[in-house]
Amino acid sequence: MMKKILMSVALLTLFAMGGMAQEAVRLPQPDLSLGTTLTEALQKRRSDRMFQADKPVTDKQLSLLLWAACGINRPDKGLLTIPTAINAQDIEVYVCTAKGVSLYNPKANTLTPVTDQDIRLPLAERQENMATAPVFLLIVSDLSRFRSNAEHYGAMDAGYASQNICLMAAALGLKTVPRAMMNRKAVVEALGLKETQALELNHPIGY
Ligand SMILES: Cc1cc2nc3c(=O)[nH]c(=O)nc-3n(C[C@H](O)[C@H](O)[C@H](O)COP(=O)(O)O)c2cc1C
Repeated sequence: MMKKILMSVALLTLFAMGGMAQEAVRLPQPDLSLGTTLTEALQKRRSDRMFQADKPVTDKQLSLLLWAACGINRPDKGLLTIPTAINAQDIEVYVCTAKGVSLYNPKANTLTPVTDQDIRLPLAERQENMATAPVFLLIVSDLSRFRSNAEHYGAMDAGYASQNICLMAAALGLKTVPRAMMNRKAVVEALGLKETQALELNHPIGY
């Protein structure tokens, strides 16, 4: 009987998740030998708003973009490429493609599937033409990690992640733009976010 109940719960959970496998997908190790200098990346950084639908971002590029956004650069201490207020490590980055949305796990260097919905159109909102970008990185701050000034700290931490994404995209010859615009209600619903998970910025990325 117990076995049957457990099986039904498992099936219901799978059904609720749109039948997706919940196993994390391993990313390639970020290739830190990239030759671009910081001054070159700063010189190239700009907002671009037109993206080719048929030119994907590779997993190798994605791995570097995510590492720049909030990856670990001091594994012995578990510290990040971005500073975060009181070292709250509140920044979460979601990878949004035609196949669905996954959450970046910096420690394991993996992507955990969240939904199989394509949320690029709700992310683009009124700037519909941007939904052609093959990938959007969505920056969320987990405000529950702060005891005070949560909204300020969350927004500031997101700014660092966004700037690092801008610079890494420029270094990789990719285009992006930091965007505050998005259909917040639709995105929150699709990802099942809590009230304390603040949508900060999104980055369409491509060529
Ligand atoms: C917090 C923030 C929010 C932004 N939101 C949007 C947005 O929703 N849509 C958009 O097209 N650009 C957005 N931008 C990009 C700015 O419009 C852009 O940085 C500015 O026009 C200067 O151009 P540049 O980035 O090429 O220097 C945003 C920039 C920041 C910093």
